[in-house]
Amino acid sequence: MTSADGLFAAQALVRDASRVVVLTGAGISTESGIPDFRGPEGVWTKNPDAEKMATLSHYVSDPEVRRRAWRARLESAAWQASPNAGHRALVELERRGKLAALITQNVDGLHQRAGSSPGIVVEIHGTIHEVACLDCGERAPMERALERVRAGEEDPPCRSCGGILKSATISFGQNLVDEDLRRAQRAALSCDLLLAIGSTLSVYPIAGVVPLARDAGARIVIVNAEPTAMDDIADAILRGPIGELLPLLVAEEGE
Ligand code: APR
Ligand code: ZN
Repeated sequence: MTSADGLFAAQALVRDASRVVVLTGAGISTESGIPDFRGPEGVWTKNPDAEKMATLSHYVSDPEVRRRAWRARLESAAWQASPNAGHRALVELERRGKLAALITQNVDGLHQRAGSSPGIVVEIHGTIHEVACLDCGERAPMERALERVRAGEEDPPCRSCGGILKSATISFGQNLVDEDLRRAQRAALSCDLLLAIGSTLSVYPIAGVVPLARDAGARIVIVNAEPTAMDDIADAILRGPIGELLPLLVAEEGE
């Protein structure tokens, strides 16, 4: 659990900061019912094979992988999920005019649902709320594709070109959107505090914004239930449940 002086030090860093960049990971959405990947109940923790199958090459080459992916999309916990106190704490940080950018590795759209301005959210690993054609690039609302799956199409092809459809998330083997990565890196270079929340900080290139911010002079605060790959460069570490700690971290003085 977090020591009181750890929380006190982190609160002082937030209070003194004026240009905060936040990087969130799956850990901020577990209290909304969406499992993370590498935590004790994580998707990869429970089924290491699933991580291998989450690569683009398998998805493109094996229709059975695609059929399984469409069934998983239909049943995703993300459709029933609601934002939690962690998401709402970041809306509060934005309301106080401190939040320069909210980079999220999550694809669930909960930050926007909680009220974070879409203009400051960078969905660096894409979104499950849209579907994209791997051949012609056409994008459409995911709900439309799910209706086709419910109606019996197990692996619906693109209506424009017959190509393979996939959720508009960035899988292993797919490149990030250049402009999004550059935007995240620019934000990291010009912030005075980077808050890394609910992430093992183990997936590149986006994990690289933490040392990038640090080397540019920013302070680093990590909020996570377990150790992360970047604990050694953090100025403060809050070890515990995000839904409890984040509201305390961003609370105005005397609140
Ligand atoms: N409170 C605090 N920490 C939590 C909570 C919680 N309620 N729930 C989970 N965590 C922590 C876990 O202990 C874990 O260390 O959040 C972290 C989540 O780490 P990962 O599962 O590795 O998720 P993330 O870092 O977002 O993964 C990055 O990997 O699989 C790819 O593309 C996927 O975006 C994902 C990327
Ligand atoms: Zn197409």
